[in-house]
Amino acid sequence: MLIPLSQINPQIRNISATFYPGVCVTVLAMRKSGKSWLVRALISADPRIKRILILDMMGEPEYKHLPTVDNIPALTAALDKRKHQDRFVLVFKFNLNDKNKKVTFDKVMKLAFAYKNLCVNIEECDAFCTPMTITEWWENLLRRGRHPEVTLFQSTQTPSTLNKLVIKQSEHLFIGMLNEANDYKYAFNQMPGHQEEILSLGKCQFLHQHEKVITSINTRLTA
Ligand SMILES: Nc1ncnc2c1ncn2[C@@H]1O[C@H](COP(=O)(O)OP(=O)(O)O)[C@@H](O)[C@H]1O
Ligand SMILES: [Mg+2]
Repeated sequence: MLIPLSQINPQIRNISATFYPGVCVTVLAMRKSGKSWLVRALISADPRIKRILILDMMGEPEYKHLPTVDNIPALTAALDKRKHQDRFVLVFKFNLNDKNKKVTFDKVMKLAFAYKNLCVNIEECDAFCTPMTITEWWENLLRRGRHPEVTLFQSTQTPSTLNKLVIKQSEHLFIGMLNEANDYKYAFNQMPGHQEEILSLGKCQFLHQHEKVITSINTRLTA
């Protein structure tokens, strides 16, 4: 478990109850606003999510104690070893000096597609797309990930640089505290009529959109 259930508020548990294998979730919020915490809580709250691959771009301290690999052959071997394992968490840590990050990322996405029954948490996902481009296997997972039962969690602090497909294919969208005018404009377009609420969001506060219903949540248990 990534976050103890005792620290997860009932609203988050209700949201997780609407997940099913192959669902796509996107979180848009500025750095240090609680994106990673929210995703880890959503994953922890859903008992059906048992096989988890975290793509760590930043070398997050929260993932230090988890089994970690940092190259494709090691990831292939680690996934093979867990092929019949019902429950695991594995971290793929990107090398900051990797000049071909997008190529490496796409290999990870291809492995995930072939592996099946996996939850992939892509942190800082804007590193792997532009408004005009997206990698081949990420696109395949977004469009057809339901078949191999690959659940995608995608988060970014720069929503305005995302590829359209990421949001279009997401059944769940979370918008948190932002800071750039461009990002606010983007957020307003995703949730028209909710400008005031978006502007007033603070750390650990999010608007959640699912099937056209928008609700606000505070992920912090105590105020
Ligand atoms: N709901 C929460 N309850 C307690 N601490 C939280 C919560 N959300 C975030 N934090 C803390 O706030 C800090 C920033 O959160 P994080 O999820 O890493 O932000 P981000 O991924 O947006 O940069 C972390 O130290 C994290 O532990
Ligand atoms: Mg983070």
